[in-house]
Amino acid sequence: MAQQIKKVGVVGAGLMGHGITQVTAQSGYEVVVREVDEATLQQGLGKIEKQLARAVEKGKSTQEDADGVRARIHGTIDYGELAGCDLVIEAITEDLELKLAMWKEVDARAKDGAVFATNTSSLPVVDQAAVTKRPESFVGLHYFNPAQVMKLVEVVRCVTSSEDAFQTALQFAQSQGKLAIPTRDRAGFIVNRLLVPYMLDAIRALEEGVGSAQEIDEAMKAGAAHPMGPLTLADFVGLDTLGSICDVMFDEFRERRFARPPGLRKMLAAGWYGRKSGIGFYDYSGETPLENPGI
Ligand code: 3HC
Repeated sequence: MAQQIKKVGVVGAGLMGHGITQVTAQSGYEVVVREVDEATLQQGLGKIEKQLARAVEKGKSTQEDADGVRARIHGTIDYGELAGCDLVIEAITEDLELKLAMWKEVDARAKDGAVFATNTSSLPVVDQAAVTKRPESFVGLHYFNPAQVMKLVEVVRCVTSSEDAFQTALQFAQSQGKLAIPTRDRAGFIVNRLLVPYMLDAIRALEEGVGSAQEIDEAMKAGAAHPMGPLTLADFVGLDTLGSICDVMFDEFRERRFARPPGLRKMLAAGWYGRKSGIGFYDYSGETPLENPGI
């Protein structure tokens, strides 16, 4: 039987965490969002406030509704404030050691019966479940960027997940107006298993001179009706995140299609992480993105 969720904790207010926080508060839940320090927290909250203000400007929301959403979000740098949450969603860096350390902190403070969910893109859910004292209450809830807009949430059942925890997570995602698709605990789940090799192949096509970054992107937009070309998408996801995901998938499956292309390795060495760092396959410093001349 699914549990009733009223208060949700989100750990991390970055690219995914701030979006998950916003969409959760918009669905009527109280949200406690935790970050490592005040400056990072304010950055995440600032992004949410900007989105809410834009929705009011566009006439998609009333000021009263936007204020209500903001009032339901409480930011903190203290793990202790997650104590009253019925569900805690992890959305920190895609690094297993960091996630395990985080869960130990949360597990020590969360109330009995709380459900834990990881937003990992690729790491095995069970590895995180096993570090807690409640592996049966642990599932995956994988959102897509931007979480406020993308319809899908993959709901991951790992070998230790109870039916109650799984149903709670499934119904929670549905209550946010999302399409909740159940999937097994296999690296990359459904979407990244297909999407990651596609983005890596686009990088290889660029390396082989099949087309320029813009030509590859425009071709996929016009020829396959994708909203973004694969290299723009890679910049949007974050090249560091893409690198971490493909490493995990390569370790798991040992298949060339998940291997990091040499070009990606060099870009990461240069600190080119995509849109978040202002430069990746494109340079985002001007009005419109231009191809990175260093590629
Ligand atoms: N945050 C919040 N809202 C956003 C947003 C953001 N970052 N970006 C766009 N939006 C909203 C806009 O406000 C607008 O809302 P409105 O219709 O209510 O006015 C709506 O989305 C459409 O935005 P725009 O008109 O500005 O732009 P587009 O129509 O080009 O859409 C897009 C932007 C939704 C990002 C679209 O380009 C798209 O769907 N791109 C593909 C995204 C994708 O594939 N994501 C999955 C990545 S993989 C992943 O996340 C998995 C992970 O594990 C790696």
